Amino acid sequence: MAFISQTGFTKKDSMELKEINFSVEVYASLSHLKAADQALLQAARKITANAYAPYSNFLVGAVALLADGAIISGTNQENASYPVGICAERVLLSATATIYPGMAINTMAISYNNVNGASIHPISPCGICRQSLAEYEIRTNQPIRLILGGLDGEVFIIQKASLLLPLSFNAGDLK
Ligand code: THU
Repeated sequence: MAFISQTGFTKKDSMELKEINFSVEVYASLSHLKAADQALLQAARKITANAYAPYSNFLVGAVALLADGAIISGTNQENASYPVGICAERVLLSATATIYPGMAINTMAISYNNVNGASIHPISPCGICRQSLAEYEIRTNQPIRLILGGLDGEVFIIQKASLLLPLSFNAGDLK
């Protein structure tokens, strides 16, 4: 278990020091995961082939196990107008919310194939996707467990996607 601390403060008398921490499970390879998690990560690796990423050549695949046992996938879809592109994770979230409205996501595996480089360490969702994942957890009132791994190498498991976005802005702030 790796431990990541996000504090960068020095304590003064007039303030309280608040530490924000979360844990990441680190596995040496896919073979150390339980069977259902292995299958999900394998599927995420495989679905990278369906990404449309001719500009970055960085193919991302996400596959989720939903609360009712259904499996749904997403891949990144780029565009010649670069900002139009959408990440695999948000393709998956949008598809899930459209096809299975209100359905919680138990686990999401995310993998990638960096065509021009190595794909042997986990990647984690970008900032925009973290915001989307966090709100999906709120919408469905259930944490989304993340399995992060490349085509080979170490695998990270994070028990709740929103742990990746501490002190997040959310709907409650708009009231
Ligand atoms: N990308 C994803 O789809 N998910 C991630 O977690 C990281 C980045 C995509 C966006 C873009 O199409 C390409 O990867 C390179 O940034």
